[in-house]
Parts: sequence; C-alpha cells; structure tokens
Amino acid sequence: MAGRGATDGVALRGRGAGVIAITNHEHLFAPLQLAGTTLRNRIVQAPMSVCYADPDGGVSDRMVEHYARRARGGVGMVIVENLAVSIAGRQLPRHALIDGADRLDGLARLAGAIKAEGAVAVVQVVHAGRYAGPWEEYAARRRLAPSAIPFPLPLGEVTPDEATGDELREVVASFARSAELAARAGFDGIEIHAAQGFLLSSFLSARMNARTDGYGGSFEHRVRLLLEVIAAMRRAAPDLLLGVHLMSDELMEGGWSIGDAVEVVPLVEQAGADFIVPVATTFESLRAPANAGLTARPNFQRDDSRAVKRAASVPVFANGHVWDPQTIEQMLAAGECDAVALARPLLSDPDWPRKVRAGREDAIRTCSCDPPLCLQTQMTGTICSAWPSELQAKGFIGLADAPDDGSAP
Ligand SMILES: Cc1cc2nc3c(=O)[nH]c(=O)nc-3n(C[C@H](O)[C@H](O)[C@H](O)COP(=O)(O)O)c2cc1C
Ligand code: SF4
Repeated sequence: MAGRGATDGVALRGRGAGVIAITNHEHLFAPLQLAGTTLRNRIVQAPMSVCYADPDGGVSDRMVEHYARRARGGVGMVIVENLAVSIAGRQLPRHALIDGADRLDGLARLAGAIKAEGAVAVVQVVHAGRYAGPWEEYAARRRLAPSAIPFPLPLGEVTPDEATGDELREVVASFARSAELAARAGFDGIEIHAAQGFLLSSFLSARMNARTDGYGGSFEHRVRLLLEVIAAMRRAAPDLLLGVHLMSDELMEGGWSIGDAVEVVPLVEQAGADFIVPVATTFESLRAPANAGLTARPNFQRDDSRAVKRAASVPVFANGHVWDPQTIEQMLAAGECDAVALARPLLSDPDWPRKVRAGREDAIRTCSCDPPLCLQTQMTGTICSAWPSELQAKGFIGLADAPDDGSAP
C-alpha cells in the first residue's frame, strides 16, 4: 500500500461502536466529489431489482428497509433499482413506478431513509421497451422498440412494436417527469438505464434499430433518443446528479460496440451526464453460447470500464464481478475508475463496506450460488442464498437486522 500514514488493517477500539479501523484501502475510503455532492467513499450500491414494491408499483416498507440497510452498511451511494417511467415501460409484477405525483410520498420515504444513513440517494429509471410487460394495467400492450425485429424471450420469439414519433415524444416526456419527481421526492440523483437491451439501449444498436427516420440509421441518429432524454431530464431537474448506465458493448455481431460507447461518452457528457456506469451485454447476448459464464468471471467488464474512463471527463464507476477489495483498491489507485458499483456482494452482505474498512474481510458473507437464487426469485421478491435461514424466511434484510457494530448478519 502506498503511504499517507495508513497501516495494514490495524483496528482500534472505538467508544462503544465496535471497531474503528485504519485499513490499507485508502483510495476505496477516500471521499468522491461528484458535481456538487460528496460521497463518503468510493463504494456504490449498483442498481439491483429486488422487486419488493407493492403490486401497484408503490414503494413498500420492505423496499425502504432494504435500501436503508444497504446505506447503513456504509456505501457512499445507493442507486435504487430501476423504476419504470411509465406503465408502458414496466417490466416485472413488482416493478416500482415513478410516473406521477401520487408516488411522491413513497419515493420521499425511500430517499429520506437512505440519506438518513449517510449515503447519497440515487434512483435508476427505465423504460423496458421490448422487455415490457405485465400488461394487466396497460391496455395498449405495445412492446416499444426502434423496429419490429423479432427477438427471443423465455416464452418464445416475440416481435416488438416499432415506436411512433408520438410514442418517442411521450418517452422523452416520461423520463423528464421522472427526474422532476425524483427531485421533489428528495433524491440526490437519478440514473438513466441505457443498457441490457431496454428501450434506450435498443435504439443505440444497429442490430435492433433499422429505422430510416431521424432516430435510426447513422450513429448520430441512433444515439439521438438517449441524448434527448438526458437533455430533457437535465432541464426538468437542473440540480439533480444525473448518471447514465451505459451499454458499453452489446457483445453481438453487428451490434453496439465499445468503440461506439467511447464515441458517445463526450456527447452524453455534453447533454448533461454527471457520471457513467459502463455495462456490457444485453439479456439476449447473455444467452449466446459465446458469452456463457461471462458474469461469473472476475472483473469481466474491466477493459470496457478502462476504455470509457479514458474517454470521459466525468467520474466512471466500474462494475461486473469486481468484488475483491485489493483489486478495487488497485483499480482506483491506477485511475481506472473513480468508484466501484457492487450489486450481488451487497445483497449477500450489506456490511461489506464496514467489514472491509474494519479489516474483517474474512467475516464477509460471500456471494456464491449458481444459478443465482436472486434472479430466480425476482417475481415474488428477491432472496439470497447466502443469508441466514431466518432472513431468507423473512424475505429481506432490514434495519432491525443491523447491530450497531455491523458485525452481523
Ligand atoms: C437480481 C439482479 C437484479 C438486477 N437488477 C438491475 C437493475 O435494476 N438495473 C441495472 O442496471 N442492473 C441490474 N442488475 C445488474 C447489476 O447491477 C450488475 O450490473 C451485475 O449484477 C454485475 O455486478 P455484480 O457482479 O456486482 O453483481 C441486476 C442484477 C441482478 C443479479
Ligand atoms: S449468493 Fe446467490 S442469490 Fe445471493 S447475491 Fe449471490 S448470486 Fe444472488
């Protein structure tokens, strides 16, 4: 470890609060200045749809507890799982919505609970596009996409609906409305989901986008919808932190590539983005034989993250099975990224940050199950196989499960 008086994992006894420690992770626990906001460290809860919302899309008590508990574990920023900007863009039965003023009370409770635990509160927003559904409350049942190109879903091949110009204007307006609502609810920031094959990323891809109007064809046309959304959200909420979860590589022949992502970075910044989280793959490319086992590989997006960081002037968060504190420390020290966004490690152990800080890495409840139980339980509310059995039975880890010294569970 390089200097600045830190010692290797030395723990000092604190006044009634368990352990205060000086660790060798000086970059990991250094504050991060992000636009006008300061994160207490470089650890970010990556958005992870645990699907604890009420069936009508409202924020539930369980959802508030879950996210407050991640903040109490010591992360610098919590990015709440993707919330749908409209009923037409909703993906899962317990997918929360951020689509109108009647959502404000729940959203304000969520933002307030995260901030009360010392973390910066950000909410991710999405239009699921061709992955949209359930349809009960959405009579039009339009699966919006740039073009009506068939694609595989678990239920079989589906042909989505080519979005009309009016529908695209409505999409831009619904993202802008979500930004205004997030600001009114007291969130510090909002993150646009432009990855994994959802609506905004599908427009980026020449594989998915065969339009001949101003939103398809050339690179400039394919990135237009994303840039319009960013700019509209920036106008709607000028003081909010604005992040972009950016598809870095579709990993499919003829699709969006890391070269494209690098080219769009300055445009995304000009439109108003304050930070970028590059993520590779779509749901479709994850199923391709060539990508089998990809997300189980340590640090599988490192090259993309480095490339985006080189092109960016705003902070970049690395993600993708980058869980080893020493590796993260080295990445931060080398300037490969400005923070790290962890998803599964913080589901399995919300105290990951405080345990690392206290030099108690051996006490971390590690994420290790295949196939992932968290993905299999999304329809009913995610549980994790690494939790103690009583918490699996309860269905979540909340504040009541957090002793003051953060030692367990
Ligand atoms: C159950 C589950 C739900 C997820 N939900 C989201 C989500 O709502 N938004 C998003 O951008 N990524 C989502 N992801 C992807 C994660 O944010 C992350 O990119 C991925 O899990 C790799 O990071 P990790 O290795 O730290 O888990 C989800 C992943 C899992 C396993
Ligand atoms: S242990 Fe399994 S269920 Fe828990 S976060 Fe990891 S992959 Fe998901």
